[in-house]
Amino acid sequence: MKLFIDTANVNEIRKAAEMGILSGVTTNPSLVAKEGRDFIEVLKEITQIVDGPISAEVVSLDADGMVEEAKPLAALHPNIVIKVPLTAEGLKAVHRLANQGIRTNVTLVFTANQALLAARAGASFVSPFIGRLDDISYDGVELIQDISTIFQIHDIKTEIIAASIRHPMHVTQAAKAGAHIATCPYAVLDRMIKHPLTDQGIERFLADWNAAQKK
Ligand code: E4P
Repeated sequence: MKLFIDTANVNEIRKAAEMGILSGVTTNPSLVAKEGRDFIEVLKEITQIVDGPISAEVVSLDADGMVEEAKPLAALHPNIVIKVPLTAEGLKAVHRLANQGIRTNVTLVFTANQALLAARAGASFVSPFIGRLDDISYDGVELIQDISTIFQIHDIKTEIIAASIRHPMHVTQAAKAGAHIATCPYAVLDRMIKHPLTDQGIERFLADWNAAQKK
């Protein structure tokens, strides 16, 4: 399973990219709004940091508007993927964009049927939201399992991005459930690095080393 970062903060993207762990980036309108910067400028900067799919979301609600918004975004860089919400208009936009060779990531997916529809419309990626399902007492990881099973049985090539990741366990569970990608906030990637036994181990190695130097 590949790792994407779910942020529009270029400092976070740079820090994760420096570790060599990143295969892509996802953004959404809330994440972009949080940065208070020009969306296009942010996207251009991200394309210089990460060489992989970079999702940029449209905000129009109708297919014509989505396709119009998508064109200049997709023209920015070949790695830009257009993120489209799972609605009837969204599916129409995905279908049209696929015919123009523009890749899409269908977002706000909460059922296996929605994922199937997105795949059949021509989406390159689907983004089931694990955390938001868990928040309302549904099993988000089970949804990843269902989509993965269906895509395997029917030889569907659309990649599954486990989204709305809240903690490191979600990442492990998504990997076991068959997600191709997990898109994680920087804080989750950071927590995945850490283990108290690693810290204790380093401390003990250093103490032993320093004691030996004094002998
Ligand atoms: C996915 O691409 C979304 O940007 C994201 O994972 C949403 O997560 P949230 O539920 O933490 O807002």
